[in-house]
Amino acid sequence: MNPIEIVPMAEAHIESFHRTLDVVARERRYLAFLEAPPLEATRAFILDTIRHGFPQFVAVSGGEVVGWCDVTAKPRPIHAHVGVLGMGLLPAYRGQGIGTRLIAKALKAARGFGWSRIELTVREDNVNAVALYKKFGFVTEGVQRYAVKVDGAYANLLLMALLF
Ligand SMILES: CC(C)(COP(=O)(O)OP(=O)(O)OC[C@H]1O[C@@H](n2cnc3c(N)ncnc32)[C@H](O)[C@@H]1OP(=O)(O)O)[C@@H](O)C(=O)NCCC(=O)NCCS
Repeated sequence: MNPIEIVPMAEAHIESFHRTLDVVARERRYLAFLEAPPLEATRAFILDTIRHGFPQFVAVSGGEVVGWCDVTAKPRPIHAHVGVLGMGLLPAYRGQGIGTRLIAKALKAARGFGWSRIELTVREDNVNAVALYKKFGFVTEGVQRYAVKVDGAYANLLLMALLF
């Protein structure tokens, strides 16, 4: 396998990021959507996050994005101190420490960005992701019971956050 580099998201990564996002979304177990948004909407979102300088890192293998971790802002002024974290990896790249490398870089950049709270939601049954977030100091603040229903099955969502 090619070595994995963790680098800031750039315009050149958008198409392969979109493919990776779509693969993870279509697994129907991890993300808040079941397929990636259209490519052009994704492109507009990414270009906007690059313009704002939000922390957004990708794991790249042989020039292709195989994973990402981003922290983005919330729209309202009362939440200007809060970043929202999201991440994912193609199945073949999980369990090898790449998520740890991605989130470490994203959190360091988020701290530098000036946010004092980083929050996320994660399905309670996503034990690997929950373990990763706890390893980085995220605390479970609440449980939204039956918040998600996919293919007839309910799942609880954990609300987790890290304070700087
Ligand atoms: C969640 C995810 C990003 C973690 O990245 P990863 O590269 O697989 O994780 P790492 O190999 O860096 O492991 C990080 C920690 O996660 C936990 N973990 C990861 N894989 C695990 C496994 N197979 N069994 C048990 N724990 C595991 C461990 O706590 C591990 O830390 P440790 O090795 O120090 O014990 C990745 O598995 C993924 O993309 N999952 C699907 C998409 C997803 O869930 N996104 C998040 C939605 S909220």
